[in-house]
Amino acid sequence: MVNYLSMTYPTKTFKLPTLEGISEKQMKVHLALYEGYVKNINLIMEKLEAVREGTLELDPYIVAELRRRFAFEFDGMRMHEYYFEQFEGEKGGSPESGLAKAAAEKYGSGEDFIMHIKEVAGSRGIGWVVVYKDPIGKTLHTTFVADHEVGQLAGLPILLALDLWEHAYMVDYIPAEKKNYIDAFFANLNWSVVEKRFNEAA
Ligand SMILES: [Fe+2]
Repeated sequence: MVNYLSMTYPTKTFKLPTLEGISEKQMKVHLALYEGYVKNINLIMEKLEAVREGTLELDPYIVAELRRRFAFEFDGMRMHEYYFEQFEGEKGGSPESGLAKAAAEKYGSGEDFIMHIKEVAGSRGIGWVVVYKDPIGKTLHTTFVADHEVGQLAGLPILLALDLWEHAYMVDYIPAEKKNYIDAFFANLNWSVVEKRFNEAA
């Protein structure tokens, strides 16, 4: 039986190939940051559980703040898992895939789809570009999510996650070179991972 109370999230490991335009040092720094989110979501869960069980007493204001921070730490963990997974494996992707067809229907073509993601990625501020599949609306959505959690679309499966926090690229690029990082992201993106998510989304 699963013990829901005492679960903790494990830090995932990723089989990352050598990337073009994103250095090993950059990835190392970024992975260490991801580990911090895993550590902190586990810490928040542990504290809130102790508060519920009555073994820890905290000021209600602090408890409320921990609850507010839950989504930040949780999404910080989960979004980075979406991000790093996208570089794993041998680069693939098919113009005949269901994803390619859905993208062409909404954005005109696969190229237009990427152009649109890049345009959204140019938004000012830190956060993520997220591409979702909406199985109910039978469409794709490309949005900008602030921090890790502000603006996420409820219940929609995530297909693509592009990290646009400065920590994602500032080992390799200065802020004015964000465009180069975005190009590097697409140069290394394994579209097969994104297609798999599309196919598996309910
Ligand atoms: Fe990040």
